[in-house]
Amino acid sequence: MKTLLVSAVLSALTIATPAAVLAQDATAGKKLFRRCAACHTVEESGTNKVGPNLWGIFGSQAGARDTGFNYSKALKDSAIVWDDETISAYIENPRKVVPKTRMSFAGMKKAGQRADVIAYLKSMTQ
Ligand code: HEC
Repeated sequence: MKTLLVSAVLSALTIATPAAVLAQDATAGKKLFRRCAACHTVEESGTNKVGPNLWGIFGSQAGARDTGFNYSKALKDSAIVWDDETISAYIENPRKVVPKTRMSFAGMKKAGQRADVIAYLKSMTQ
């Protein structure tokens, strides 16, 4: 009986945590964003560093915002529109999504961390 209960609880947990419903935590995302902040600012009219300023990134087309940044042709030609899903895939493995992108970032492998960074990014860039 006890075993049955435990396995019922375990399967309920498994069902409740697919990547798509991970809770987003912008506060945790702020810390994680330090990895991005080496190359990116988020505030309106912020400077470009190694990477472009990210103000207004949600809903924009890759490499198309008027930031004055010298985007790679690969990024501009990708025709990606940035939303939670496309940003998540890009920061998981930039070169898998845009093979010749100039973003040299090893990738953030944990879905929960990506969700938190995206929540923070959304809270700061619009
Ligand atoms: C080592 C520097 C570096 C780091 C670290 C980095 N990026 Fe980038 N990022 C870039 C560069 C350079 C580009 C432009 C790529 C190109 O033109 O191909 C870019 C582009 C982007 C774009 C697309 C911008 C646009 O206008 O289309 C997004 C979104 C982005 N980065 C998010 C992030 C996030 C979020 C992180 C942290 C998880 C991160 N980056 C970490 C350098 C970096």
